[in-house]
Amino acid sequence: MTTIALIHGPNLNLLGTREVHIYGSMTLDKINEAVAAAARPDHEVHPFQSNHEGALIDFIHDARAWAQGILINPGAYTHSSYALRDAVAGVKLPTVEVHLSNIHAREEFRHRSVIAPVCLGQICGFGWRGYLLGLRALLDYLQEQE
Ligand code: DQA
Repeated sequence: MTTIALIHGPNLNLLGTREVHIYGSMTLDKINEAVAAAARPDHEVHPFQSNHEGALIDFIHDARAWAQGILINPGAYTHSSYALRDAVAGVKLPTVEVHLSNIHAREEFRHRSVIAPVCLGQICGFGWRGYLLGLRALLDYLQEQE
């Protein structure tokens, strides 16, 4: 059984009501359910959301003990958190970065991800379905490593 840590950063708990024209109307719970359903029956998904950088980092460290890969939307920490980047790099778990919006088509400060260089890749601009694309990419990668 492959277990994936599904990590959501700050403000993503507000999905469904937050800037719906940008992020869509799916709630975080619904996204977590959709990812878990796509992973079943052979794979498990452990979701986690926090608005706190340190809590996200602690979760990533913990994931070393039970996860084989990470699917992460770091929210605004994408653009600023060297600490989160170092956590991802440090645990050496294959990681895929996901964004609901196309960060490259938005404000300039969103164009750069400090996390992406330590990830397998980045998926953005496809709304909640990007999580399913990211999961597929991550699971295919892990299978190829077997
Ligand atoms: C986001 C993009 C970020 O720039 C923003 O700060 C978010 C959401 C996305 O999923 O499109 O919180 O990560």
